[in-house]
Amino acid sequence: MLRLVDIQKSFRLGTLDVEVLCGVNLEVAAGDLLSIMGPSGSGKSTLMNIIGLLGRPTAGSYFLDGRDVSSMKDRELSAFRNMHIGFVFQSFNLLDHLTALENVAVPLVYRGLGRGEIRRRARAMLEKVGMEDRLGHKPDQLSGGQKQRVAIARALVGEPAVVLADEPTGALDSDTAEEVMQLLIRLNREERNTIVIITHDPLIARQCTRQTLIRDGLLLGGLRQAEAAE
Ligand SMILES: Nc1ncnc2c1ncn2[C@@H]1O[C@H](COP(=O)(O)OP(=O)(O)O)[C@@H](O)[C@H]1O
Ligand SMILES: [Mg+2]
Repeated sequence: MLRLVDIQKSFRLGTLDVEVLCGVNLEVAAGDLLSIMGPSGSGKSTLMNIIGLLGRPTAGSYFLDGRDVSSMKDRELSAFRNMHIGFVFQSFNLLDHLTALENVAVPLVYRGLGRGEIRRRARAMLEKVGMEDRLGHKPDQLSGGQKQRVAIARALVGEPAVVLADEPTGALDSDTAEEVMQLLIRLNREERNTIVIITHDPLIARQCTRQTLIRDGLLLGGLRQAEAAE
């Protein structure tokens, strides 16, 4: 479903090329709940940006849902991102002036659906994350855990091929973090959502059904075949 082949990324700093990803290979299948764990500065966010089509690699190939995305032009890439990727961020990134329902509706607005259909789907998604009694609340009227539930609903409402969560529990106290993690696990098990969680926290990583490690721009455990052969 998602395959990165020998992905490299370097940034030019003055006359120096800093290599941040040094040949990453990663396969994600539909229904995976995968963690990418590594220390600060190991390249996690750089890798997430490439998987999420927010940044382009310096070298290597990327196939998503049967398409070679390396060759796509920017406009096609944005449309493809909207249809295929859902994002969850550490700091929620909700729009403050919109209600929970309106925040969740945002990804659907770009798809040219009718208003009624958009509301129906956004509401159904908020029910799935247990937020049906907070539809009209704005982000500053919600707790951290509730904001992340809304953000998860927004990530999932368009039925993306994969949800990318970058430190989704990083801004939450440990009890709330555990609740949000249980929600992601349930959405993976019951709704078959494919979820990639980026974290530096071993307690989060070990609750995922597949685990990888990133260190100094190298990813360990990214290939499904290698794991099966072990
Ligand atoms: N735009 C950039 N320009 C130069 N260096 C960058 C840029 N983005 C990230 N880096 C460097 O790449 C390394 C990995 O960063 P990042 O992917 O954010 O790591 P992580 O998310 O694991 O903390 C860091 O050393 C960082 O300084
Ligand atoms: Mg990061």
